[in-house]
Amino acid sequence: PIVHWFPGHMAKATRMITEYIKKVDVVIELLDARIPRSSANPVITELVGQKPHIVLLNKVDLADPKATKEWTEFFTKQGITVLAIDSKSGKGNKKLISTVERLSKPIIDRWVAKGIRSRSVRIIILGIPNVGKSTLINSLAGSAATRTANKAGHTRGQQWVKIGKNLELLDTPGVLWPKLEDQRAAARLAMTGAVSDDVYDLEHVMKQLLNHLLTNTPNILVERYKLKEEEMTDVDTILESIGRRRGCLVSGGVVDFDKARRIILQDYRNTKLGTITLDKVDEEPYYPENGEDT
Ligand code: G4P
Repeated sequence: PIVHWFPGHMAKATRMITEYIKKVDVVIELLDARIPRSSANPVITELVGQKPHIVLLNKVDLADPKATKEWTEFFTKQGITVLAIDSKSGKGNKKLISTVERLSKPIIDRWVAKGIRSRSVRIIILGIPNVGKSTLINSLAGSAATRTANKAGHTRGQQWVKIGKNLELLDTPGVLWPKLEDQRAAARLAMTGAVSDDVYDLEHVMKQLLNHLLTNTPNILVERYKLKEEEMTDVDTILESIGRRRGCLVSGGVVDFDKARRIILQDYRNTKLGTITLDKVDEEPYYPENGEDT
């Protein structure tokens, strides 16, 4: 496999998240806006069940605006409530809160009809590692609130944080495992930094990223690395040219390919190559080829 890592205790995670979900009224699932399909957990729908569910395309500041629009339509068409946000800026918080309020209105109405004195609507944030869950929780809760809770000597367990008039957020996110059996998804998770840099095959991942760039945005490669037209033939030539241009050389003038790969990867992650969404709405599903998954 491309990613040499097994997210352990999936059965335990499933149990924990199932328990968490029981305690809440609304589930917020964070996806990475650059890879809305690859960053989705394989069994999330099963775990969420019938509860109101909001999909957040997070890190939208790093994604291609046109693709974000397409993904938003894609989810909307399936009847899924979706918002694109940038948790780091906190700009989408108001909209998110009003969306949760709108989705939870029928729940509150049901409580009222049953004569239950209305309590707060409870929310959980779920997602794979590094998708921005803590950033969003802190932003919604306000760092002050979180800090006070810790200082008060509470055990560092979960607690509910008020985030609106009638909303309470679980301050611990539900961590889901990523889709690593799908090799295309695994590579994209690696590209975006969703899995740690020491667990995947850099050569393989970068071959795919360079292929993506060469196919979709060749001009950006040319401009960024001052490549000549005759160097834009294939990914190996491009990699070698970038390595030379950037002085990634070992003794004897040989290109240090891994160093060149890391430079390009950082440039992708820092949007030096533009805001690029890797997952496409209309992509063919991934089917493992013979032997590729072993
Ligand atoms: P997690 O709880 O889901 O594991 O993710 P966490 O919030 O720790 O966020 C993982 C990384 O993603 C952090 O970067 C965080 O700043 C970044 N991040 C979260 N939301 C957004 C967003 O909407 N836009 C952008 N551009 N980045 C986001 P880091 O490199 O670990 O830390 P730092 O560089 O922010 O210090």
